[in-house]
This record gives sequence, structure tokens and C-alpha cells, in this order.
Amino acid sequence: MNVRHLVLGDIEAVENLDHAIRGPDRSKTWDVYIDRVLRSGYLDGLPHPPWGCFIAENSGELIGFIVAERQMPTYGLPPGARIVALAVDPAYRRRGVGKALVAKLVEDCKKSGLDNIYSILMDEDERDAAFLESAGFAPANFKVFSRPIPE
Ligand SMILES: CC(C)(COP(=O)(O)OP(=O)(O)OC[C@H]1O[C@@H](n2cnc3c(N)ncnc32)[C@H](O)[C@@H]1OP(=O)(O)O)[C@@H](O)C(=O)NCCC(=O)NCCS
Repeated sequence: MNVRHLVLGDIEAVENLDHAIRGPDRSKTWDVYIDRVLRSGYLDGLPHPPWGCFIAENSGELIGFIVAERQMPTYGLPPGARIVALAVDPAYRRRGVGKALVAKLVEDCKKSGLDNIYSILMDEDERDAAFLESAGFAPANFKVFSRPIPE
């Protein structure tokens, strides 16, 4: 297995994997972010690999990806990186691919002087929580408030 920066030529394979695991396997926190990040990649023509985005490949076949963004310093949340999307091909899970992708993001954060990585999950995403805890994450002591918008 090899883990490297995502480049323009990977986008179709990333989209294919993302689409293949949509549905019951897809975390509710996944949302539309992956599409947004990939679309902005198209727009910019990706002169450089995007920061915080990596793919894992096996014999040239894409088997996983991670897309992260730098979290701008805003009131109440220390600067860091935020994981937008992370997925491993179901045929390659539980072999350390997810962990290797997070490790690459940690390297990018170190180089950029960032000292925190955030991942926001819904309470019911217990499977993802188990993965994150195994990759060194712990529940943060932030409070997230939300208010439904009345129709
Ligand atoms: C979550 C996901 C990325 C994990 O990828 P992975 O390559 O299988 O993870 P790893 O092999 O690196 O797992 C490392 C550890 O995390 C934990 N873990 C991973 N998947 C788990 C699961 N389904 N249930 C419980 N623990 C899990 C285990 O402790 C595991 O170590 P072990 O296999 O030695 O027991 C993958 O299951 C996936 O793509 N899920 C669907 C997409 C998704 O929900 N993404 C959002 C993630 S925040």
C-alpha cells in the first residue's frame, strides 16, 4: 500500500469510491463536502496537490482517501485541520488504511504548524468514533449548539 497526496488525476477514482459507498454505509456526517472539495479542485485546475488531501493505493488502484481543510482561527475553536471526508474501500477495511491516511494528515499538520485535528460526528456514528479513538482522537470539550429553523 502507498499513501500519497491527491492529484487531479485521482478525482474520478475518488468519486467512484465515494459513490460506491453512499447509502447505508455512508456516515450521516459525510454531507456534501466531498463534492464541494472535488468541484473546487476542478475549478482551480489543481496547480499543486491540495493541502490535507491524500489517497491510498494498492497496485495502482485507489483503496481509500482523506480530504481535510485548514480550520481558520475563529472565535471559540482553536486553529487546526478538520477532516471533511475519509473513506476506505470496504474490501480493504480493518487493515490500517484509514490509520495510514490520518498519519499522513498529521504530517501535513506538523509541517504547517497546526496542533489540532477536528472531526465532527453525529452521536450515532459509533463505528466512526471507534476508528477515530483508535487513531488517537478523543471527544473534545467543546459544546456545539444548533437550532432547527422553523418552516
Ligand atoms: C471508518 C473507516 C474510514 C475506517 O477505515 P479502516 O481502514 O477500516 O480503519 P483501520 O483499519 O485503520 O482501523 C483502525 C482501528 O479503528 C477501529 N475501527 C475501524 N473500523 C471499525 C469498525 N467498523 N468498528 C469498530 N472499530 C473500528 C479499530 O480499532 C481498528 O483497529 P483493528 O482493526 O486493529 O481492530 C472505514 O470504515 C470507512 O470508510 N467507513 C465508511 C465511511 C465513513 O464512515 N467515513 C467517516 C469516518 S470518520
